[in-house]
Amino acid sequence: MSTEKNRGEWGSRTGFILAAIGSAIGLGNIWRFPYVAASNGGGAFLIPYLIALFTAGIPLLILEFAMGHKIRSSAPGVFAKLNKKFEVIGWFQTLIAFSIATYYVVIIAWSFSYLFFAFTGAWGADPKAFLFGDYLKLTDSPMNLGGLNLKIVVPLLLVWGINYTVLRMGVKNGLEKANEIFMPLLVVALLVIVIRGVTLPGAMDGLDYFFSPDFSKLTDPKVWLAAYGQIFFSLSICFAIMYAYASYLPKKSDIVNNAFMTGLGNCGFSLISGIGVFSILGFMAHTQGVSVAEVSTAGVGLAFIVFPEAINQLPGMNGLIGGIFFSTLIFAGLSSSLSIMEAVVAAISDKFNLTRVQALNRFTLTSGLLSLLFTTNGGLYILDIVDYATNQYGIVIAGILELIILGWFFHLESVRTYVNELSDFRVGKWWIWAIKGTSFILTVILALKVKGEITSPYEGYPWIALGVYGLGAMIIITVGSFIMTKKKESKEFENNIYHDPIGNHLELDLDE
Ligand code: ALA
Repeated sequence: MSTEKNRGEWGSRTGFILAAIGSAIGLGNIWRFPYVAASNGGGAFLIPYLIALFTAGIPLLILEFAMGHKIRSSAPGVFAKLNKKFEVIGWFQTLIAFSIATYYVVIIAWSFSYLFFAFTGAWGADPKAFLFGDYLKLTDSPMNLGGLNLKIVVPLLLVWGINYTVLRMGVKNGLEKANEIFMPLLVVALLVIVIRGVTLPGAMDGLDYFFSPDFSKLTDPKVWLAAYGQIFFSLSICFAIMYAYASYLPKKSDIVNNAFMTGLGNCGFSLISGIGVFSILGFMAHTQGVSVAEVSTAGVGLAFIVFPEAINQLPGMNGLIGGIFFSTLIFAGLSSSLSIMEAVVAAISDKFNLTRVQALNRFTLTSGLLSLLFTTNGGLYILDIVDYATNQYGIVIAGILELIILGWFFHLESVRTYVNELSDFRVGKWWIWAIKGTSFILTVILALKVKGEITSPYEGYPWIALGVYGLGAMIIITVGSFIMTKKKESKEFENNIYHDPIGNHLELDLDE
């Protein structure tokens, strides 16, 4: 761990909550949640989703907030404190954050381009042809990269510039201030979209599709898998972020309350964004005379094809509403990208006792250069595959490792005591069982995923592409974690984190 002078601190409790919610609310809430919910039972999906939130999401937020707060370190330091051998798990989580940061910025860069296109009407009458042809200039295969696409490189520089500037200013003056600006803007922008959406003809058909419960889906394990998967990515848990954010909390902090506010705030936002998205999809289906199912999709297709199509059909203020929609992606994306990057910057600075700026420069240079890969003409394919690998496998594996170590080898009762001393609302023993139980659920999820993968490769991509980019990313992350663990740490890290290298610290020392 770096010396106290290098570690920042949140200026206020609201500042921390806003930043934690800002991290949680991201692209995943706007373009993934509505579709995942609608295609996995609609209204009935809320049952597994809320169960996942209360049995895994919030308990894990409490755990990560408590460990980061008590040990005052980013993920590698938290795990090294338990035992030097476990440091590698902290790095595995940190490098997953690194990988996500590297492509997440590119999606924000596309959103900046589309903010501009919304006002100029650049996508014309055929947004699909525009996206793949004119804008991305997509090649015919993931193995054919083509060259760098300057139309993406330019907004990407802007996105890096914003992230770099904010992170350089530190926790209180950078991260906290940025979230104080982005979060209210995000809420206002989303409310405009929702109000415009629900007042359009056909909106009710969309909402009906979104909310109509199909209870028969609840017996399908895939639905439960989708609910847990969505909770982990969306709450930014198991990939190093919340440890780093909680390490900047002042000594007296109500951990349980903070975790509930973050979890509920994020999920409330997801529901509201679902209302906005599906009322607009309902309108679009109504105008085209097709069913809502036919127009509903997620991810790149939703944001950069279906939404531009819907915007084209609006009766008025098309540019303005389009601009506001892409602004929501930008605000939500930036507040998350900042947190994903902070997880990595904090880890580098803790391990080598570097100043924030030194760690940030090293991170930005490496991640910035790698992000150029996703601006090539084949970049969309690579982004899709790396996102799938890190999200669907990386985070789940990181979660299993975290939960096995902390849930089964660590004395969780010491964390419960610690948390309860700090919080108004006390957590009962259920919390310990929630953590232990989630380790099983994640293992089943992983096994089902691997089985499904073998029978049908993701999106029908050629095996070679999935191997090179997907498996390749996972191998680099794993090898990288061992290399980072082996690298010589600073005296401060050694002294403050695992002052007794051969000892196990498998419970929180509450007197320390
Ligand atoms: N939690 C962030 C999101 O949903 C990473 O996009």
